Amino acid sequence: MKQINSIKDMQKLIAEEKRAGKVIGFVPTMGYLHDGHLSLIERAKKESDVIVVSIFVNPLQFGPNEDFDRYPRDLERDEKLALKAGADVLFFPDTKEMYPKESVVTVSVNKRVDALCGESRVGHFDGVATVLTKLFHIVSPDYAYFGLKDAQQVAVIEGLVEDFNFPINVIGCETKREVDGLAMSSRNVYLNDRERQEAVHLNASLIKAEKWLLEGDSGETEQKMIKYLEEHTSGVVDYCKILSYPELLPPTPQSKRLIIAVAVKFSNARLIDNVILDNILCRPESEEETCSVR
Ligand code: PAJ
Repeated sequence: MKQINSIKDMQKLIAEEKRAGKVIGFVPTMGYLHDGHLSLIERAKKESDVIVVSIFVNPLQFGPNEDFDRYPRDLERDEKLALKAGADVLFFPDTKEMYPKESVVTVSVNKRVDALCGESRVGHFDGVATVLTKLFHIVSPDYAYFGLKDAQQVAVIEGLVEDFNFPINVIGCETKREVDGLAMSSRNVYLNDRERQEAVHLNASLIKAEKWLLEGDSGETEQKMIKYLEEHTSGVVDYCKILSYPELLPPTPQSKRLIIAVAVKFSNARLIDNVILDNILCRPESEEETCSVR
């Protein structure tokens, strides 16, 4: 596995690989790799010849009161895990390399950010879109892999790639879970023992919500989820929302794909999870018909 921390070297290597006709697969991360990240690398190996994994904790996507300084980092461990999962190149630029001076231009996301994490993390997705614009130009991948655990991020990236005409296939990959159903996340290490046990209820609330959605409208389902999470966790419910996907707008009877999404703040970690449902006829709040599986 090649290890590169300069943008110039990365671009040089990619140019050589492209000249040799290689298909480039890219897995951008902020490091502290877990099985969720590794599943993206394994998926990438199926379609691509050269797998580039980036590790960069992007300051632009953290708010002033968020966890940028204490975000977990362990490059040595990440190197071993990335190699084992099949990465060919590890790209780990430092902040100075990525942002040598104050930016003249940054990317601003206009849609798909007024709800869910975009609502409580103002500017977060501008930071994600800006760093990915840079990384896409540096790595020039044919395929880029992202986890659907961060489904809003995937929706924004699909918009970025389409609007800015990046010749990149964005692949949204299934959420990797612990055996008890908790979605894997670098932030799970911040949970204390009791919170770790309670955290399984995020996934449980989503499974219940799928059933509730067939019995009542989306507003009632959201309320039931909030009640369930308040009863089963000590965390503060940030949101429980049912929206169309990838638009992230209130659902209508015409919505073909829905997302049920949840975020809960524990003492030191804010956890998110979601499920995406196809072919569900949903009764939006205050309409008459019930939901049914098409
Ligand atoms: P990070 O949180 O490190 O996540 C890197 C990638 O791993 C993202 O695409 C994320 O959705 C995916 N991922 C995380 N947990 C997962 C799980 N349990 N199952 C499957 N995939 C999972 O997301 C970011 O970094 C950053 O915003 C980034 C895209 C790198 C831009 O800075």
